Amino acid sequence: MTNIILLGPPGAGKGTQAKRLEESRGMVQLSTGDMLKEAIAKGTALGKQVEGIMARGELVTDEIVIGLIEAKMQDGAKGGFIFDGFPRTLKQADALGELLTRTGSTLDRVVEMQVDDAALVDRITGRYTCGNCGAVYHDKTHPTKVAGTCDVCGSTNLKRRADDNAETLKTRLMEYYKKTSPLIGYYYAKGLLASVDGLADVDSVSSEISSVLD
Ligand code: AP5
Repeated sequence: MTNIILLGPPGAGKGTQAKRLEESRGMVQLSTGDMLKEAIAKGTALGKQVEGIMARGELVTDEIVIGLIEAKMQDGAKGGFIFDGFPRTLKQADALGELLTRTGSTLDRVVEMQVDDAALVDRITGRYTCGNCGAVYHDKTHPTKVAGTCDVCGSTNLKRRADDNAETLKTRLMEYYKKTSPLIGYYYAKGLLASVDGLADVDSVSSEISSVLD
């Protein structure tokens, strides 16, 4: 069992690689962004609370996301967890450490996905996902084989995110550099950090992550 964090700015490819690790290694992706978006889609009280914050590209409170992760971790994961988009602050990182200790497990690796800001704008503004199975696509680099139909599940419910526009991306990037990037030093100091070139093509990034985990 291996528990890892995929760390990187918006559009670095965390979700894309998490899905691949689920398929290849039987790991379980825990994406706080996906959990929050699900709450918005279902119109729950939590969804209503976070909708405006997320649309502006700001981070929601530590208490909310720590609670979500704690609840999901109780289901367990034989192949280990992939923490995708969590932790995003030092407080969240400390909380994750405590949650893992409490369940008798450890954090094995933190994979930093390095990309540059110009590439992120292209990636974010070209992204769309399957509303049914969550598969991630891109207008130029990874379109569906049949236009309008998901390659994985055949659904025609393909959609774009409300926060995937150039203006909101600026705020998301500022939040990343101010609040999340200090985690790079935090995990380096713990001897857990490995960096991969997130600008390489999707298969190459997967290979690099596999090398790190093996
Ligand atoms: P979240 O959903 O986590 O978004 P994010 O971190 O901004 O990350 P993204 O999902 O945008 O990018 P990604 O790295 O997964 O890239 P992807 O694989 O899709 O968070 C959304 C919001 O929720 C936050 O702004 C915040 O408000 C809130 N939130 C969530 N977690 C929180 C927390 N812990 N604390 C507080 N608030 C929280 O790839 C992007 C595109 O690029 C795709 O189109 C893909 O096909 C393409 N692509 C991927 N890899 C490659 C490649 N190697 N080459 C070419 N194209 C590629």
